[in-house]
Amino acid sequence: MKEVFCQYAGRCSGCSWIDVPHQDQLARKRERLERLFEEHGIKAPPLWSVHETRAWGSRSRFDFTVERLNSGEVRMGLYSTLGTLIDLEDCPQLEPALQDWYRTFRQWAKRSVGSLSNLKKGSVRLRIGENAERGVWLDFSNLSIKELLETEESCRSLEALVAPRGVVEIGQQRKILLFDGERWRLGGPSLGPWFQTTIANKLVPVWMHVGGFSQPSRTGNQVLVDCVVDMIQNGGEKPPRKWLDLFCGNGNYTLPLRAAGFSVVAVESDEQALEGLKKSAASLGFLTDLEIVAMDIYRDGIPELRERFKLLGEDLGVLVNPPRSGLAAAVKSLGALRPKVLVYVSCFPDSLARDVAQLQTDFNYKITQMALVDQFPQTPHFETVVRLDAHS
Ligand SMILES: C[S@@+](CC[C@H](N)C(=O)[O-])C[C@H]1O[C@@H](n2cnc3c(N)ncnc32)[C@H](O)[C@@H]1O
Repeated sequence: MKEVFCQYAGRCSGCSWIDVPHQDQLARKRERLERLFEEHGIKAPPLWSVHETRAWGSRSRFDFTVERLNSGEVRMGLYSTLGTLIDLEDCPQLEPALQDWYRTFRQWAKRSVGSLSNLKKGSVRLRIGENAERGVWLDFSNLSIKELLETEESCRSLEALVAPRGVVEIGQQRKILLFDGERWRLGGPSLGPWFQTTIANKLVPVWMHVGGFSQPSRTGNQVLVDCVVDMIQNGGEKPPRKWLDLFCGNGNYTLPLRAAGFSVVAVESDEQALEGLKKSAASLGFLTDLEIVAMDIYRDGIPELRERFKLLGEDLGVLVNPPRSGLAAAVKSLGALRPKVLVYVSCFPDSLARDVAQLQTDFNYKITQMALVDQFPQTPHFETVVRLDAHS
């Protein structure tokens, strides 16, 4: 495993395991999962796989904090293990093109953010698109956004950095910065090919907003998606033809499932993510055999889906990829729907263990396949994929 020099090693909380040898990181993650499952009385299969991803230079998005001191000095980066913001010059976790974008953006921010007297702190996300497009999302307070729009030179120079195909997104609504011939203002949100998923070993564009959710790295995501699709197709008996993709986001798994010939109902609460999924599906010719539903899954979503799509558990597979809180109360309605196969993808093993224990005890599901995908090297985090089959 290639070791990389990082001048912030040991201080930056972004890579809290940077000093732990790579194989020891994997062993610790594995042990953590095994211990959690044991504590919850979960019967895991004796053999399960661990999938590595690139240890360095693979992050396709970078989320960081910008802080403006009273003196007007600007710091930007990640927090230290002691809770102070480290003014990062670079980060070896980023894809090379994203490293360049970060350094360029940093020069702009040092000049321009210092003049925003209303800004104390803000969040920034940078992305590099499919064809090296540059994207930035500034999540600043309304007052500082107003101030930025009134600062002609700052807007013009930032727009020049992303031109001609990139975008500057601003605020929670992810509106875009534009010049209407007279002044700088915010226009409606705009989708771009800011991420990629994988279909039959090929990366395909996922349309989304810079500020929208995606997995952290394209190459890591490829390992994850391949693992999920393989587990569905080859992890046990012949899979059902119909799949519910719950918490589908921008369609990271929906598109590969649809490409593999399944009929998919994709469900998500973020309507902007679903706009992206519609565009990606249309560009791949996948609009048939695909239902896209905007709904809050925790609020009685599953019984409503069951009714609306006449879902029958024995002919159904369900893929779930919830946020860190897990399935919570939805685990009961999912168990009651009783899909033949359930694949659970999770970045938070505690809620995964809680939900899987309930599915095992109350609904008689058994884990038939399991994998750990090391999507977050140099950190204690990882992704787990579990396939559960309904037993009578
Ligand atoms: C871990 S992400 C997974 C997204 C997608 N599967 C992927 O791989 O990119 C979890 C998703 O759950 C969605 N979500 C959160 N709460 C929700 C809810 N109450 N109902 C429906 N979707 C929700 C989020 O918007 C987010 O897209």
